[in-house]
Parts: sequence; C-alpha cells; structure tokens
Amino acid sequence: MTTTTDTTTATTVLEASGVTMRFGGLTAVKGVDLKVNAGEIVGLIGPNGAGKTTFFNCLTGLYVPTEGTVSYKGTVLPPKPHLVTSAGIARTFQNIRLFHNMTVLENVLVGRHTRTKEGLWSALLRGPGFKKAEAASEARAMELLEFIGLEKKAQHLAKNLPYGEQRKLEIARALASDPGLILLDEPTAGMNPQETRAAEELIFAIRDMGIAVLVIEHDMRFIFNLCDRVACLVQGEKLIEGTAAEVQGDERVVAAYLGEPFEGDPSAAPAAEVAEVEAAEVEAAEVAEVEAAEVEAAEEHAEAEAEAEAPAEADADAEPEPDAEPAAAPDSTTSTDGEAK
Ligand SMILES: Nc1ncnc2c1ncn2[C@@H]1O[C@H](COP(=O)(O)OP(=O)(O)OP(=O)(O)O)[C@@H](O)[C@H]1O
Ligand SMILES: [Mg+2]
Repeated sequence: MTTTTDTTTATTVLEASGVTMRFGGLTAVKGVDLKVNAGEIVGLIGPNGAGKTTFFNCLTGLYVPTEGTVSYKGTVLPPKPHLVTSAGIARTFQNIRLFHNMTVLENVLVGRHTRTKEGLWSALLRGPGFKKAEAASEARAMELLEFIGLEKKAQHLAKNLPYGEQRKLEIARALASDPGLILLDEPTAGMNPQETRAAEELIFAIRDMGIAVLVIEHDMRFIFNLCDRVACLVQGEKLIEGTAAEVQGDERVVAAYLGEPFEGDPSAAPAAEVAEVEAAEVEAAEVAEVEAAEVEAAEEHAEAEAEAEAPAEADADAEPEPDAEPAAAPDSTTSTDGEAK
C-alpha cells in the first residue's frame, strides 16, 4: 500500500482556520490551522491535555469554537453535529459511545440515519418505500460489518463485544454515514499489538475507499507508519506540522512528550517547581554520600583496631566483615526494639 499524495493538486477536504476554544480562563485550543486533503491520512499528536479532542469537538460542531472557522470541501460548516455529519464528516470518540443494549447491526444502522430519506410517517406506516430503504440500509450496514470483520457478530449486543471490537464497531458506525472525511480519536487505545496492526490496515483500506482520515493517537509507531502528514499540538497550539520523518525527528516534539519546557512554554512555573524538587533531591543524595563516607571511615577504623589486636586472623576476616557488622548492628537494635525499651 502506497501513501502518495500530491498536495499541490489535491483538493482540500477539511480546512480549519484559526480555531480557538476557550473554557473560562483556559484556552484549550489556540488559533489552530489545519488542512486535510483528499486521499490523505493526517495524524494529530500531542501530550495529554494538549487540546486534541477539543479540536475534534470544534471540527464536528460539538463545541462552537470561540474563534475561527471550519470548512468542508470549501463550505464553512455550521457548528451543529448533525449538519457536520450530513455534510460528510464522521467521527469516533475517545471514550467509546455505542448503544450498548442494541445489537452490533443496529448500532451501524443508527450511523446510517443521516443518509436515509424516508421521513417519520413513512417509518411509522412502514410502507413499501420505507421497507425498501430499510433493506438497502441493512445491506449497506452488513457490508460495513464485513469490511471491519464483525459480520458474524451482527446480532450480538454491542456491550458483549471485547474492547477492540467495540472500537471497530464505532468505525463502522461512522462509515455508515458515507463520509468524505473520518476523524478517529485514539482508535487503538486499549488494543493489543495484533489489533493495532489490524487497525492500521483498516485505516489504509478506508483511505483507499476515497475517505480522507484525520487520526489522533498516542502510539507513535502507529502514527508515523500510517500518516502522510502529522501535526503536533502542545498546550492548545500547533507546535509543528510536517511529514512523519520531519515531526519524528523534531526535538521540540520529543521535549513536549517528555514534559520539558520549550521556548514560550506558559507552564514555566511548574517547571521551576520541578527544578526545586530536583535540587532538593541532589542535596539529599549529597548528604547520604557524606554519611556513607563516615560509616566507611568508622568501619576502616574498627578494622584497623581489630587487625592490631589479632594480626594473624586478618586473612580470614577479609570477606565477611565489611558490611555485615557495623551497618547491621545499630540499625537492627534501634528499629525493632528501640521504642519498647
Ligand atoms: N468541556 C470542557 N470544559 C472545560 N475544560 C475542558 C473541557 N474539555 C476539555 N477541557 C480542557 O481542555 C484541555 C484539553 O483537553 P483535551 O481533552 O482536548 O486534551 P487531549 O489532547 O485530547 O488529551 P488526551 O490525550 O488526554 O485525550 C484540558 O486542560 C481539558 O481539561
Ligand atoms: Mg483526547
């Protein structure tokens, strides 16, 4: 599978411009621009709390961005989830949101409802038009279940699926709305390595179906293997965007993941606190070193005295003596009996 994309001629599917989301005093997403072109798989990475899910929520109308716009295929989207879905953007959630007491098939059918034209009366009367539409929806849902490999579990309750399969079912449900772009929020969270590998293949296959993909993940091997481009968010801002190789090798990305401060890092105060703790630890280690040296000196002194008293036994004592006596004796008496006496 190749991942070639000509970004110069490719049509832009998603364009987020200056998206900002504030919650009271907290700016979770700060002026983020991001494009996804047709045929692309784009990754969104960043440490916990960087604003990735909030950004997805802004893209899908779950949040109304404080500033900025989101366009799909050249049209600015109204911030209403159902309008975003019917425009052509589907998503999965970081915390799986399935209808647990519905079957696997029914869950996929729910995702299909934006594409069914039959109205309320038609559904209530269950006329021929409705039945035909229902049969078509079911056939499409079964196709999607085959695509993700869950067709044999179509009649199982969603809640009885293992975690990895629930994640796949969410993807099938998202695909049921016939999207042109799918947003995946941590699709491999909780998956084992084999499931992760299969998810990777599944996402390539989705791209090959002509659906652009924007994916959030913490699994870097997965992201760098999968994505044509990767953007990294740190504290709500886009730190860098580039090819997998460019982002992978960027020391600011590494620093962000290790929690090291970088230029313009607004969390400088906590970093100072960390430095203070580290200094205290160094000081404690120095004190311990001095104490150890004192113990050693005492041991040497005791040894010298013992040698002076019994020079003939020096050889036999060489092995067991150093640690066993002086260190163990005072400790064991004070720690076990010291207070009772
Ligand atoms: N509805 C909300 N109200 C207030 N603060 C929020 C809300 N949603 C998110 N936040 C805050 O916005 C920041 C970004 O959170 P977000 O969930 O977007 O991060 P994330 O990058 O998805 O993290 P993770 O990798 O842990 O999923 C966090 O500080 C979070 O507490
Ligand atoms: Mg998140």
